[in-house]
Amino acid sequence: MTEPLPVHLRTGEQGAAALPTVYEQVGGMAAFDTLARRFYEAVQQDEVMWPMYDPDDLEGAIWRLSRFLGQYWGGPTTYSAQRGHPRLRMRHAPFPIDRDARERWLRHMTAAVDSMQWPPMVRAQMLDYFDRAATAMINQPG
Ligand code: HEM
Repeated sequence: MTEPLPVHLRTGEQGAAALPTVYEQVGGMAAFDTLARRFYEAVQQDEVMWPMYDPDDLEGAIWRLSRFLGQYWGGPTTYSAQRGHPRLRMRHAPFPIDRDARERWLRHMTAAVDSMQWPPMVRAQMLDYFDRAATAMINQPG
């Protein structure tokens, strides 16, 4: 009788199926709701970012960000069911996103991620993704 391998050493079909998603590791959609809420608390204090948002639809913005991230990291596809294909660069085209706005977004998101006290590997994966995604959203020189 061989012992089953620990999750991180399994390979092949069975192992892949058994690997928990980031969505599962952080505890599901409630964690992404908290993350998005903390992120938007900081955005509301940001004099460059907050004017880009509709102040009457803060709850909607929290919902969209949370569901998008939950979906991206392996959770249910509620975002796409409600909003269609993410097409994030296109959806951000109306907002003037320069390097400064990108740094601000990333700073607030990094603080929100750090507040969650997730496992170091999860934190690293998230911050790596946010770093690249925020750069991809730049649509203005400067
Ligand atoms: C780089 C600086 C960024 C700025 C200044 C910015 C700003 C905004 C603004 C003003 C909105 C509209 C609020 C709403 O109606 O939901 C928005 C929406 C959104 N943003 Fe960003 N954003 C940035 C980067 C990112 C990044 C890196 C991601 C993902 C990793 C992201 C994900 C989203 C999502 C999912 C929505 C909702 C899209 C929709 O369904 O309409 N944003 N963003």
